[in-house]
Amino acid sequence: MLYSIKVRTSLNEKHISGAERIVSKYKIPEVVRKLLERQQHKEFDFSNIKIEKLSQKPIILKKSLKIETFEFKDFKGAINFALDLISKQTNISLEIAKNHIELLYKGASPDGNNMRGAMIVNEKGQRLEKDKFRGVRTVLVDFIDRDKITEKLIKKGYTERTVDALALATKNLNFDGFIAEFCISDDEDYTTGYLAIDGKYIRLKPLKPYGLDKGGRVYFVKSDINIDELYNYLENIPILIEDVDG
Ligand code: COA
Ligand code: AMP
Repeated sequence: MLYSIKVRTSLNEKHISGAERIVSKYKIPEVVRKLLERQQHKEFDFSNIKIEKLSQKPIILKKSLKIETFEFKDFKGAINFALDLISKQTNISLEIAKNHIELLYKGASPDGNNMRGAMIVNEKGQRLEKDKFRGVRTVLVDFIDRDKITEKLIKKGYTERTVDALALATKNLNFDGFIAEFCISDDEDYTTGYLAIDGKYIRLKPLKPYGLDKGGRVYFVKSDINIDELYNYLENIPILIEDVDG
């Protein structure tokens, strides 16, 4: 039987980091230890570890999205590149994509802070999150053999962050009616972002200016998507990924 392990830490009630793994019971102590070591160098005043038995068998995906990387002189060039891809490859207009993506750089929550999850936008430009402060969070996803995948990706010059975000984006794009995901971190010193679209995880460097503590995700979806089914898939259906593409 498989278990989900979720760790989150915060400082002054502000979320700092989160991580999730899906492992068999005998691996729990080792994986918890590794997750705790990861947060060792961070300043925090609260940490929560949650271990839950999965209530259903995970869906197995053979391959992750295919990773590509593009570098730009500045983040504006990268945003324009992403907007161009979205407007040419999907039914989302340039204007709708631009308006919602720009919100992430200002703080997309109605109070001007970062949202605690992703914004959901359909082809008509309608916002579909049930709570615009919170958004939706994708959970219950991992690689079957995370150590092997991490080693493979680090050898190719990617980071652990890539492993986490690649898993999350792969789960997202697997849902029928999910068109694309645009992401910038809320860490002020992490400027690489990505666009996940059409089977690809496209890393864009840099996608935000250094020193900006704003970030977030936009999930672009079809207008006829069933929002309750999307929430259920993202929050409750476990996904395990076998390998990376390429
Ligand atoms: N951002 C901001 N706040 C968060 C958060 C996040 N990612 N995850 C949890 N919180 C805070 C919120 O205040 C939340 O309350 P809310 O549900 O009203 O928003 C509260 O913690 C409890 O959240 P919960 O969903 O119960 O947390 P959890 O213990 O199930 O853990 C995480 C969820 C942290 C594992 C998950 O959100 C996460 O971050 N997974 C890893 C994602 C990842 O790999 N990202 C790629 C990195 S590039
Ligand atoms: P991160 O990639 O962890 O730097 O998170 C960047 C932004 O993505 C956060 O500010 C949230 O708005 C959003 N986010 C964080 N975790 C999740 C998640 N599990 N699912 C969807 N959106 C998330």
